[in-house]
Amino acid sequence: MKVFVTRKIPEPGLELLRRECSVVEVFPHDRIPSKEEIIEGLGGKDGLLCLLTDKIDEEVITSNPKLRMISSYAAGYDNIDVETATKLGIPVSNTPDVLTDATAEMAWALLFAVARRIVEGDAFTREGRFKGWSPLLMLGKQVSGKTLGVVGAGRIGTAFALKGRGFNMKTLYFNRSRNRLLEEELGAEKVSLEELMRESDFVSIHLPLTSETYHFIGYRELSLMKKDAILINTARGAIIDENALVEVLTEKRIFGAGLDVYEHEPMVDERLKKLSNVVLQPHTGSATLEARTEMAIIAAENLITGLKGRKPRYCVNPEVFDRS
Ligand code: GLV
Ligand code: GLV
Repeated sequence: MKVFVTRKIPEPGLELLRRECSVVEVFPHDRIPSKEEIIEGLGGKDGLLCLLTDKIDEEVITSNPKLRMISSYAAGYDNIDVETATKLGIPVSNTPDVLTDATAEMAWALLFAVARRIVEGDAFTREGRFKGWSPLLMLGKQVSGKTLGVVGAGRIGTAFALKGRGFNMKTLYFNRSRNRLLEEELGAEKVSLEELMRESDFVSIHLPLTSETYHFIGYRELSLMKKDAILINTARGAIIDENALVEVLTEKRIFGAGLDVYEHEPMVDERLKKLSNVVLQPHTGSATLEARTEMAIIAAENLITGLKGRKPRYCVNPEVFDRS
């Protein structure tokens, strides 16, 4: 088994690969490889371990007729042409579960950072502008007892909502199917997107990016939000129409936003950077030592299992196995 890894990942994952494969080629630079570099590295390999920053389209997949398995080091797989892979009988795997807590925690970190103006306050203090306690200094927004709106109640959305238990919030969720765990544990209510946007004090996005969720939150949805509401996105940038969001934030039509993801990553809209009512993170939702190490191990295990002709633990197109 020969594999190509598009970037250095935590050592435990690479160790597993080296134990099982005759060739483990890792892209040698600490940057995102170009498409040409991916195609070059993939040449002659049986398996690919890629990242969410790699566009694995039809051209890449078909560049190597020997390719038998694609393992992604991520939960989201919108960067991979799964349809083409499936057509060619190539399994595609991902690494959910192990990053659920990390990403849900990031959503909470952003929520509090925006609500309590943590980043602004830190800058203010460092700049020596703190001249003593003041009744009206940096007034933020209380979280406890408010209404939490969870858009997408899958693994991460559910974990995010459950972590809010201590804050005695009313929980609304938007999801295709009912989430009985949230209903039983939190008394959460399944509502329409419109109702969620209208009623929530905090809206957090936890959908996958697909053709159906592209620009799911547009100007119309943002306009429904309360004037003092906060929007959090730790999912994928393109789920929100970023232009519309910039407009709404600039006009201060909501309290603020916490963003870990952007529509045109790694490009971040210059207008967003100028706003004090947003907190911006460099797509680090899963960036804990714990989660990233587990992701490396699972991505390696998925790749090895798939190359051995068995269904990996996390397969996004299991139908390739059912067919054979
Ligand atoms: C991170 O964004 C992931 O999908 O793993
Ligand atoms: C705030 O620091 C207070 O003591 O009220």
